[in-house]
Amino acid sequence: MTRSYSLVLTLCTISVAGCSTFQPAEKAVDAKALEETRAVAGQLATQLGGRLKAELTANGPEAAIPVCKQVAPEIAGKLSAEKNWQVGRVGTRLRNAANAPNNWQQEALKQFSERLAKGEKPDAMEFTQIEKDGGKHYLRYAKAIALQPMCVTCHGAAEAIPEGVRARLKQEYPNDQATGYQPGDLRGAIVIRRPL
Ligand code: HEC
Repeated sequence: MTRSYSLVLTLCTISVAGCSTFQPAEKAVDAKALEETRAVAGQLATQLGGRLKAELTANGPEAAIPVCKQVAPEIAGKLSAEKNWQVGRVGTRLRNAANAPNNWQQEALKQFSERLAKGEKPDAMEFTQIEKDGGKHYLRYAKAIALQPMCVTCHGAAEAIPEGVRARLKQEYPNDQATGYQPGDLRGAIVIRRPL
């Protein structure tokens, strides 16, 4: 009896000690910086979505494959250069390994999927964290990307993907993991790292 009590006590002490090693962010994310970051993430989403939709409507899904492939990094690259930030997008299950999340981005995706499972709407889900590097502070920001109905053509159940698209995807992405999604699923995140 006494032994198990002291075991419980020891475990509690360890977990409290574990908690106390956590340093709260020294710098709070100021509202203006967050607003500015949010706006850039919005630009990436709007510009990419617009190009994708236009191409799908005008020329069909096969022609739209290059939009996801080339236009996405182009837009992200342009926004990164304009701001001198790192702007990009990462995926949960990947089609292109180049879109793999790093450590903090994985943490953001994990948090998003947990929040989604609890019933939170994906559209407004954000993650922020402050990074301190060489005396400078950076904001790590992620915005959830939920699958929309128009994405199903290329990311939905493999057997429902049109034949021509499937063949082209198979040819260009032999290790494609990015199928089997349904509207509302967490597909990935827009990610930004910027100085504060
Ligand atoms: C016409 C086909 C097509 C449509 C429609 C499409 N995608 Fe993609 N998606 C792709 C291709 C191809 C890639 C791989 C891009 C690359 O090589 O970087 C990709 C990659 C991604 C990635 C990066 C992660 C990864 O798996 O490499 C995300 C996130 C993504 N798509 C989200 C979406 C969302 C959200 C929609 C709907 C708004 C959508 N896609 C619609 C073809 C498509």
